[in-house]
Amino acid sequence: MPSVYIKTYGCQMNERDSEAVAAQLVAKGYSLAPNEHAADVVLLNTCSVRDNAEQKAINKMENLVGKLRKSRPSVVLGFMGCMAQSRGKQLIDQLPDVDLVLGTQKFHRAADYVNELLAGTRRKIVDTEEETGSEATIKEHLLLGTAKEKQVTAFVSIMQGCNQYCTFCIVPYTRGEERSRTIADIVDECRSLVERGVREVTLLGQIVTSYGKRDIKLKDGKSAFVQLLDAVHEIDGLERIRFTSPHPKGYGDDLVEAYARLPKLCESAHIPLQSGSDRLLKIMHRGYTTERFLTIVEKLRKARPNIGITTDIIVGFPGETEEDFEQTLSLGRQVRFDNSYIFKYSPRKDTPAAAMPDQTPQVILEERNQRLLTLINEIAAEKYNQLVGQTVQILVEGPSRKNEARYMGRTRCNRIVLFDGGERHRGHLMDVKITRTGSFTLYGDPAILNLD
Ligand code: SAH
Ligand code: F3S
Repeated sequence: MPSVYIKTYGCQMNERDSEAVAAQLVAKGYSLAPNEHAADVVLLNTCSVRDNAEQKAINKMENLVGKLRKSRPSVVLGFMGCMAQSRGKQLIDQLPDVDLVLGTQKFHRAADYVNELLAGTRRKIVDTEEETGSEATIKEHLLLGTAKEKQVTAFVSIMQGCNQYCTFCIVPYTRGEERSRTIADIVDECRSLVERGVREVTLLGQIVTSYGKRDIKLKDGKSAFVQLLDAVHEIDGLERIRFTSPHPKGYGDDLVEAYARLPKLCESAHIPLQSGSDRLLKIMHRGYTTERFLTIVEKLRKARPNIGITTDIIVGFPGETEEDFEQTLSLGRQVRFDNSYIFKYSPRKDTPAAAMPDQTPQVILEERNQRLLTLINEIAAEKYNQLVGQTVQILVEGPSRKNEARYMGRTRCNRIVLFDGGERHRGHLMDVKITRTGSFTLYGDPAILNLD
């Protein structure tokens, strides 16, 4: 039985895609290798959002070629995902030992291609074509663990692609046009996950606020995405719902109301801001102003006072002045995000921003990154510390990855809590009292131990 190892770079959609490809290979008789050394097939699922993510995957492949190809010439090496889509055959020209380049609309073909390569019926395969209906192909889940050790949370892909074309972003080119799955199809997938022990789903898409926009009409003032949330909320046995990522442009009052209305919808919202300068938001083609962003935050906090709000911010977009950057700092102070992902601008192939004059020098990128990081971390730490002494609800996911002696759960606002627990707690909602904080980890004491 050949074995496969998949290494994933980048976002949660990539994690989800890797899981679906792994499930597909397992269904065809492959086993999963614990690491690349023992595997007959090694696939790198790549990210193109920033240059360093691409470089990491290329370096890794060079390293695999050097180490594995020599000792085991029959090993199959492949790239899949966003960089495979954007660079295609060029990857094999650059690294002739690569056997497979699999684009973002072709994941469902992975097992067939790997079979052909292992059997030697084909020597190299590059497939980055577009394919209608591919958004509905990522359905299989690989729920690891025995009946006792059930996987508690799962990602569900609801749409593929993005039509927003922010001027810095490569995603519309690597993931293609927006294509949404049907509500019925998504609900079926969630229901079958719940039957297999899942208690929390995260609905995934590049721009979920555009979900179903073309095919599903407004109903009682509710957008297609909110109709989907309503339908998923109906599923018995499902305890929690999350989603990522919405776009501020499409963040309607119906979505804010959904937070107030739907108890299973966790009070946690990731809303990408990108910049605190209206001038830059316009050049970025984001389609909203800072005022609009602040209104959304205000309404959400009114609907759910404990909501945890996180964001993405880019520093050093072409032409970003000190004044633009200070506006971002000031917005950060005003909103007081629970956490933020800060990205140094990286020029991407074929994007308008890459061709703009006034690319920001590296030293300024580094300096602004540091300044923003200091502010964001300071506020995030204060928010973490405020939780000490409070009792919060967590969903227990299993042993902590870093410290197997402890168990790990997440709060409704998506913070990790470690506590002294056991297998009996897995999959349960429980209340814990937060006793102290570590760096981005909370430590808790079970407040009610009614599960023994
Ligand atoms: N809609 C997706 C965005 C995917 S890219 C989502 O919200 O999940 C994830 C983040 O990477 C973006 O929000 C942006 O902050 C950052 N990013 C995208 N392109 C970038 C670039 N060229 N340079 C630096 N950061 C970038
Ligand atoms: Fe990228 Fe903007 Fe879409 S950040 S994924 S083009 S909303």
